[in-house]
Amino acid sequence: MILERVDEMARLLEQDAIITQGRPLPEQPPETITHMTDVLELACGPGGWGLQLLQNYPHMHLVGVDLSQRMIAFVNSQAHSTRANAQFYEMDITKPLDFPEESFDLINARFISGLLLRDSWRPLVEQCKRLLRPGGILRLTECESAVTNNEAQNQMAELVTQTMYLSGRGFNATGTFGIVNRFPNFLRDAGFQQVNIYPQAIDISTGREYAKAIQQDFTMSLQLLKPFLVPLRLLPSEEAFDELLQNVIAGWENTYMGIWFLLTAWGIKQ
Ligand SMILES: C[S@@+](CC[C@H](N)C(=O)[O-])C[C@H]1O[C@@H](n2cnc3c(N)ncnc32)[C@H](O)[C@@H]1O
Repeated sequence: MILERVDEMARLLEQDAIITQGRPLPEQPPETITHMTDVLELACGPGGWGLQLLQNYPHMHLVGVDLSQRMIAFVNSQAHSTRANAQFYEMDITKPLDFPEESFDLINARFISGLLLRDSWRPLVEQCKRLLRPGGILRLTECESAVTNNEAQNQMAELVTQTMYLSGRGFNATGTFGIVNRFPNFLRDAGFQQVNIYPQAIDISTGREYAKAIQQDFTMSLQLLKPFLVPLRLLPSEEAFDELLQNVIAGWENTYMGIWFLLTAWGIKQ
């Protein structure tokens, strides 16, 4: 299973360092952050975001949940050794979340689109609203495929969108996943107020600071996706997938230009 793999854990930690860049809440004003005490992180993985949060804001208390036993064991050991004010539990976020109502000031979820069926987004948002105190914030972050001049990468991105869609995830059958554009609606429809967005773009063109690390991240993600993609017969064979991946990697040469986009959306419970 992907979620118990050590290489997936290492990938998530590296990816987090590039995305969070030491600023887990870049869009929130300091006076809002001061009033946040209890934080829940859904599908926390190896805990990069959450532990950075506690390092920056020691007044906070964090609860992180993830389905992976390995991730939870790892992040608990990290929290213990850094004396972080946190607990991490194994929990399936597609099931009812086992916390009392109105017990958090912030709920954060990043990169959960791979585990959440498209019909599960709205119930999850509703559930988070019940767990938030009045004034509490739900914060969602997802990415879209990079915009690039690497034809093989663009082709692979299209296959990823189709794989997501055919497995009940994402909202578009082709092109973009169609998830980030729905966030403001999910939040408003659930009754959240002052819904807002914060975009992030990472230059992954040849020679840029994060190019090599993100290319490695993409390569690993695609290898992990292969067992899901191949059986859908979007490509004629496993060899065809391997060949396309080799072409993706070959396309990251001197003239490669790519920008990777992420979007954070949040809203406040009244
Ligand atoms: C792409 S990773 C994102 C991790 C982290 N949120 C981050 O931004 O680095 C997805 C995480 O969801 C976890 N996961 C998968 N299915 C889950 C489920 N049903 N409930 C809770 N966590 C789940 C995986 O173990 C993995 O840690």
